[in-house]
Amino acid sequence: MIINRNILTLDEFTIQQLRDFPQATGELSSLLRDIGLAAKRVNVEVNKAGLVDILGDYGTTNIQGEEVKKLDIYANNQFMGVLKHGISCAGIASEELDDIVVFNDDVSNNSKYICMFDPLDGSGNIDVNISIGTIFSVYRRVSELGKPATKEDFLQPGHQQVAAGYIIYGSSTMLVYATRRGVNGFTLDQSIGEFSLSHANIKCPPSGKIYSVNHGNFFQYDEKVRSYINLCQKKDKTTGGPYTQRYIGSMVADVHRNLLKGGIFMYPATTDKPKGKLRLLYECNPFAFIVEVAGGKATNGKQRILDVVPSELHQRTPFFVGSKDMMGELESCLTA
Ligand code: AHG
Repeated sequence: MIINRNILTLDEFTIQQLRDFPQATGELSSLLRDIGLAAKRVNVEVNKAGLVDILGDYGTTNIQGEEVKKLDIYANNQFMGVLKHGISCAGIASEELDDIVVFNDDVSNNSKYICMFDPLDGSGNIDVNISIGTIFSVYRRVSELGKPATKEDFLQPGHQQVAAGYIIYGSSTMLVYATRRGVNGFTLDQSIGEFSLSHANIKCPPSGKIYSVNHGNFFQYDEKVRSYINLCQKKDKTTGGPYTQRYIGSMVADVHRNLLKGGIFMYPATTDKPKGKLRLLYECNPFAFIVEVAGGKATNGKQRILDVVPSELHQRTPFFVGSKDMMGELESCLTA
C-alpha cells in the first residue's frame, strides 16, 4: 500500500511548526492536540444523534437563559476534561458555565495558556441534522506563573489571542485553527481517526457573492444596516451585486462557508437585542481572529472586534465579519 506522506496529521503539523521555533516549549501544540481529541469524541456522539438518547433538552437553562441541550453538556465536559488533564492550560471559560474554572494544581498553575470555548454552537440545530460546531480561543496568561489563573486572564481583548479555531461537524468533520502565522484546515480522516491537513494556508477571498443575515429581523435592524442589506440585493456593477443570501443559523457553518468562498456574515443589534446576540469571548473574538489572519475583517459596527476590551465573560456584541472589500462596503453604509 502506498501511504501519502504529503498529508500531515494535526499532530504532525503542529510538531513541524515547532521545528521552525526551537525555543518553543510545545505547550500550544499539546493544547491543540487535546482539543483535537475532545473534538473526535464529540464528533462520535454528534454522529450518533438520533440513535441514542442524546438529543433534546437537558432540562435547564444556561446563564444566558437559553435551553441547554444534552449534547451541549457532553461537549462542554469533553473539552473541559481534556484541558484539565493536559499540561498546557491553567483554566477555562465556557459559554455553558457561569464562571471561569481554574484548574489550580501544580502543573496547571505553571501552564502559560487559558482557553475559552463555545462547546456546541448552533445547538438549536442538533435535532434536525444541520451542521453545528465548537469554537475555541487561546490566550497567554497575564497573571503570575506558578499561581492559579485569574479573571483578568480571560478578560483580554481579542487581539491578544495566541490561537483560535473551530470544529465543524458537517458532511465531513473539520478542525480549522489560526495562529498569527496562518490559518489551516484539517479534515477528520475516519479511516485512521486523525485530523489531516486538507486546507493549507486558508485565505479569505477579498470579495464574494454571499451575504448571511437573519432576514426575519430586517425591520429590527437600524437604518444603516438595512441600507447595506438593500445594497446587497441591488444589481450594481461596482459591487458585483446582487449577492446571494445564505443563512443557516449555525454560525460556524455560515462563517466557514464565507471564509472559503468569500462573503459577509452579520448578526447586528436588534430592537429586541440591542447588544446583539452573539458572545464576544466565545464566538466573535475567535472568528474575528481567524478571519483577520486569513485577510478579512471583523467589526461590531463601530470598532474592530479584536480591540474591544471585555468587561464581562458573557458579554454580547453586534458582529460583522467577512471578506475585506465587502466589509469596506458595509463600513461605508454604516458611516454614511
Ligand atoms: P445557538 O447555539 O443557541 O443555537 O445559537 C446559534 C447562534 C449562531 O450560531 C447563529 O448564527 C445564531 O445564533 C442564529 O441566531 P438567529 O436564529 O437569531 O438568527
